Amino acid sequence: MTRASWNFLRGNNVSISRAEGACLFTEDGQEIIDAAGGAIVCNIGHGRARVADAVRQATLDFSYIVPPWVTPSRKSLIDVLDKRWLPESLTRAHFTSGGSESNESAIKLALHYQQAIGQPSRTKIIGRSISYHGTTMATAALSGHPKRKRGLEAALPRYCEVPSPYPLRCPLGSFHRDAGTYYANLLREEIESQGAETVAAFIAEPITGTSGGAIVPPEDYWLKIREICDDYGVVLILDEVMTGFGRTGKKFGYQHWPIEPDILVGGKGLAGGYAPLGGVFATEKIGEAIEQAGFQVMFTTFGAHPSACAAASEVLEIMYEEDLIDHAKTKGEYLINRLQDSLSQHPNLAEVRGKGLLAAVELVRDRETLEQFPEELAVTDKIIGRGLKEGVFFYGGGTGTIRDVVCFGPPFTVSESQLDRIVDTFVNSVNDVVDALP
Ligand SMILES: Cc1ncc(COP(=O)(O)O)c(C=O)c1O
Repeated sequence: MTRASWNFLRGNNVSISRAEGACLFTEDGQEIIDAAGGAIVCNIGHGRARVADAVRQATLDFSYIVPPWVTPSRKSLIDVLDKRWLPESLTRAHFTSGGSESNESAIKLALHYQQAIGQPSRTKIIGRSISYHGTTMATAALSGHPKRKRGLEAALPRYCEVPSPYPLRCPLGSFHRDAGTYYANLLREEIESQGAETVAAFIAEPITGTSGGAIVPPEDYWLKIREICDDYGVVLILDEVMTGFGRTGKKFGYQHWPIEPDILVGGKGLAGGYAPLGGVFATEKIGEAIEQAGFQVMFTTFGAHPSACAAASEVLEIMYEEDLIDHAKTKGEYLINRLQDSLSQHPNLAEVRGKGLLAAVELVRDRETLEQFPEELAVTDKIIGRGLKEGVFFYGGGTGTIRDVVCFGPPFTVSESQLDRIVDTFVNSVNDVVDALP
């Protein structure tokens, strides 16, 4: 390659020629277990001929049809979502090409909705301090991810922010029993200090993805957040780009708690990595208000691309037929228990956490005080590099401020013996890297 790409960074390349199940194969024949499922995307595993056949057929039918028109694959995706996946309350769907675009659309839907119901002063969106919602200007700005905003801070739009629940590092004390109330009240206070009449929406991941490293909020957090959004007329947008479509052992991450969103955002697992596709799903109340106001929900050229919809329908059907959500649950328990057993006495372990096959390990210099390793030691990068040499790909989490969080998100079809290899390689990598630190 003579030309450098921002995507395929010079000097940092791993060159993959094929993949099968949970394994990648490099050009020179090395096998790498994909413990990250790509970027926590691949849920049904690589190399499914059925999905390839569906994409082939959709491509033969036509190359491209404008997003608002119906095609067989769009219709079948809507049918499968309707029949098996979405809650009854979310009757409206809008498809994009990925997570960032979907979150951008979700924010616009919330703003449109507030305008449509006669609340034009509600223009503020509240995000959280540890989060990732995408790479467009608005979604990057809304993300609590300093590392991904470096160099852009001055130009990014300003949004409001509340602290993300972080039970390990809760200011009341680690895993404090009032942590749920504490963090939920911070949202109430923020809405009141901004003035509820100015707040359109609150956006959050039900379980914080790789920015925090699979942080599961306190048990009562989401119920309280739902109540607060209802009390103040704030639209609740749940970003399930990472947690959606089975990843956490439920169809959607929010279903671990008795709540429902106003807008649900999906991406990654929707098409399992076989095609670029994102989805935004909203309640009838929101859809109808926007429709009656005559606002345009603009599509992107490649949103709902027919071949991507074909891939997604097949992926979602395979997940159903093979009971893969249950696999995510049981394999996730196996992975988290094995990590816990192997690391519980480790002097650098802060926490093993997660739900289903979205898991993470946070490492620290001092386990008692939770003092972090200095950023310049790049502990996570070193662990990932060491893992790759041993044939396992881990995913680096954290935001710069939050760091040394190594994430795991393999395909739901991963075997127990592959999980054993993932855990053993991880523990060896941590030991080698920590032992070699200055
Ligand atoms: C929770 C969450 N939201 C949004 C995004 C952005 O999605 P995409 O990279 O497909 O634009 C990501 C990507 O990692 C994510 O994890």
